[in-house]
Amino acid sequence: MSTSNLHEFIQIDAAQLVTQAIAALERAYAPYSGYPVGAAVLGDDGRVYAGCNIENAVYPLTICAERVAITKAISEGAQHILAVAVATANGGTPCGSCRQVMREFGAPTMPVFIARSDGSYRQRTLEELLPEGFSAADLTEK
Ligand code: THU
Repeated sequence: MSTSNLHEFIQIDAAQLVTQAIAALERAYAPYSGYPVGAAVLGDDGRVYAGCNIENAVYPLTICAERVAITKAISEGAQHILAVAVATANGGTPCGSCRQVMREFGAPTMPVFIARSDGSYRQRTLEELLPEGFSAADLTEK
């Protein structure tokens, strides 16, 4: 089997992804906002990559949890992402920047699990979160 179609055989375990996002939430560095966020991303290499928000005294340098997890996945060798879980205390949704970065590496049909720290979650597709999103195809299609 070639590695290019391996992702077709990777199972998405929503509960496991949510559990890992909640675990990452505990590692958030959010002293300025007091709003911890955790994320977990399933790569097309079959691995799960976790991330948390990492704030900075220079506020704009803050990195969201989702983008930490996605940059970890891609930098470790995943080429696409197959699912994302994001966890907060109140079930907040991913910000616009993170939705756009998800679109770079994920399909419009990709599931996004939006969780609360009690383990409950709702499921959306990336397309629902980012309708008519700009992607690489827009740069080449006439
Ligand atoms: N945050 C995330 O980590 N992900 C999002 O999608 C929304 C916002 C973080 C950034 C900042 O550390 C805190 O939440 C408040 O905006």
